[in-house]
Amino acid sequence: MIPPMTILITAGPTCEAIDPVRFLTNKSSGKMGYAIAKSAADQGHRVILISGPTNLNVPDLVDYIPVESTQEMYDAVEHWIKKADIAIFAAAVADYQPANISEQKIKKDAETITLKLVKTPDILGSAKQKFGYQGVLIGFAAETENLEMNAREKLKRKGCDLIVANDVSRKDIGFNTNQNEILLISADYIERPPKASKQHLSHIILEHAVNLAAPRGMD
Ligand code: PMT
Repeated sequence: MIPPMTILITAGPTCEAIDPVRFLTNKSSGKMGYAIAKSAADQGHRVILISGPTNLNVPDLVDYIPVESTQEMYDAVEHWIKKADIAIFAAAVADYQPANISEQKIKKDAETITLKLVKTPDILGSAKQKFGYQGVLIGFAAETENLEMNAREKLKRKGCDLIVANDVSRKDIGFNTNQNEILLISADYIERPPKASKQHLSHIILEHAVNLAAPRGMD
């Protein structure tokens, strides 16, 4: 029997407004993050789910915090992460946002327009470095090439205890699919579970998270 912990999960896409009716986003459905939230809540953990817009039902017994932009997700994570023993970042966060948001709908008078983009804040990378988070930190890596090498680089750069890497160039796994195939990479080990449903893989991810928490006296 695992003692209950507080688990913060980010899920879904973020949306970056261009004008009052248009935005930049990505293909994340939220299925991976919501599967982890459901499994964690079913196991009796307190779950704080910070999610961009999705069409999914929020799992029962989850504290749900809806957000739209990366900045909103950043602010929500900064506020809630201090309460967490484990933080799992499954959201597909926009890396760039428009430098300016037009107050009015942009007219389609010109043949071409140029959109200037600036970097969004790195939420995962801020967890330990800016928010002072000391719990177990798990990031995802969505890659289209050099999966293991890029995931290892993110593990170090973002100060994670574990990276869950998936190949988002494949149509059968990754974005908006019910199945996924993941690599679990820590500083000490690598594990390659076989392709399975996101719900099944969420149990494996949680098992790793709880094992990483145990030596810190969180069990
Ligand atoms: O939602 P689904 O349709 O089920 O799809 C699942 C998924 C493919 C979205 C998911 O499994 C996944 O890979 N999520 C991470 C997507 C992503 O943004 O990966 P990344 O390699 O660009 O980012 C690395 C990590 O940094 C991620 O944990 C991300 O949440 C985080 N990040 C990235 C940028 C940023 N500004 N802030 C962040 O916190």
